[in-house]
Amino acid sequence: MPTINNATAKTLADLGVTAAVAVAPLFGDVRARFDSESAGIHDESAWKSFRDVWLGRKSGVLAQITDNWLKPATPELKRAVGAGLNELRAHVESQIESRRLAIESGAEESALARERIDLSLPGVVRPIGSHHLVRQVFQEIEDIFFSIGFSVVEGPEIETPYYNFEALNIPEFHPVRDDMDTFYIDLPPSPDKKTAPTPLLLRTHTSPMQIRTMEKHKPPVRVIVPGKVYRRDNPDATHSFIFHQVEGLAVDTDITFCDFTGTIEYFVKQFFGAGVKTRFRPSYFPFTEPSVEFDVSCIFCGGSGTAASGGTCSKCKGAGWIELFGAGMVDPAVYGFVGYDAKQISGFAFGMGIDRLAMLKYGIDDIQVFFQNDVRFLNQFP
Ligand code: FA5
Repeated sequence: MPTINNATAKTLADLGVTAAVAVAPLFGDVRARFDSESAGIHDESAWKSFRDVWLGRKSGVLAQITDNWLKPATPELKRAVGAGLNELRAHVESQIESRRLAIESGAEESALARERIDLSLPGVVRPIGSHHLVRQVFQEIEDIFFSIGFSVVEGPEIETPYYNFEALNIPEFHPVRDDMDTFYIDLPPSPDKKTAPTPLLLRTHTSPMQIRTMEKHKPPVRVIVPGKVYRRDNPDATHSFIFHQVEGLAVDTDITFCDFTGTIEYFVKQFFGAGVKTRFRPSYFPFTEPSVEFDVSCIFCGGSGTAASGGTCSKCKGAGWIELFGAGMVDPAVYGFVGYDAKQISGFAFGMGIDRLAMLKYGIDDIQVFFQNDVRFLNQFP
């Protein structure tokens, strides 16, 4: 803490100064003391006290010099004291200001040093994650169909019975509706409370998009429709109440059953590899005629029906074949719902269960793992 120069508390007479030549050394002492105290000031609060000690209006050193040396000075000394005081004041004020600037910039520097970000430190690695296996399989399927001229469309998961059933040639009370046990949506009554609200349901398959697409586009049509579907099925190793399908539809003036089988076989060989065997079995869907189920040779037992252990293959149950999806030539009755001329137009459609396709390709034996979000499972498909 700076100390007050005691000499400044006394008058010149008390100090025994009577000649002007003795005044300058006095000021020299005060200035030397100021300089040495000033060199020890390094922070803002010390600087404030130092400033008050030297420049304080009532009891600062300069005020003392004015009161004790200048004011009572004899006329012979007054000029020398006045000049010395002015010189000292200019020095003190400029030094105090430059100390302030030095302290301020020093504080800034140390704050910058404290807050400096070290850009050379390695960052925090956050795993980015990857697409879910079902999404990856959708992508693979889309790529294969893109390569033969199909495009992708998507449609609503909440449907009307008209698109989900009627326009697909499945009238009310048709037994097929029992196979697709449906989630209906509880709707509020219509505002006038007289008319019944249009019933809505969660689509049970992606086939309604056949109708929506043909309503919008004239032939030729070549689309696939990936998406979620819903059925009131009890969950087990191969069933889920929410699962994924890809619908396919190709309609033109000259599409034959050969185009259909060729397209499906091309897809399956691209997806599963050239080694897989395929077969069509007769089946029934109200919206295709003829209808088929499409099977591939069991990838788990190589189509032999026998597991590596020697017992029956549990995946194909000894058949050597696994059912992949339903398909067929579009039933002419369906064209009637979309304003196509059934005499001019022909085409095929198929609907595959993506979860089961992924299970087969990647050897997964329980469909439920797709919905459990267990990272130990997800990490296996980066
Ligand atoms: C249909 O859904 C028809 N729309 C397919 C179709 C489209 C036929 C176009 C003809 C023309 P199906 O109900 O068989 O058909 O279902 C198709 C596939 O969905 C099945 O082969 C199966 O892989 C899958 N699937 C059906 N139910 C479930 C379920 N609960 N959980 C998981 N996958 C299922």
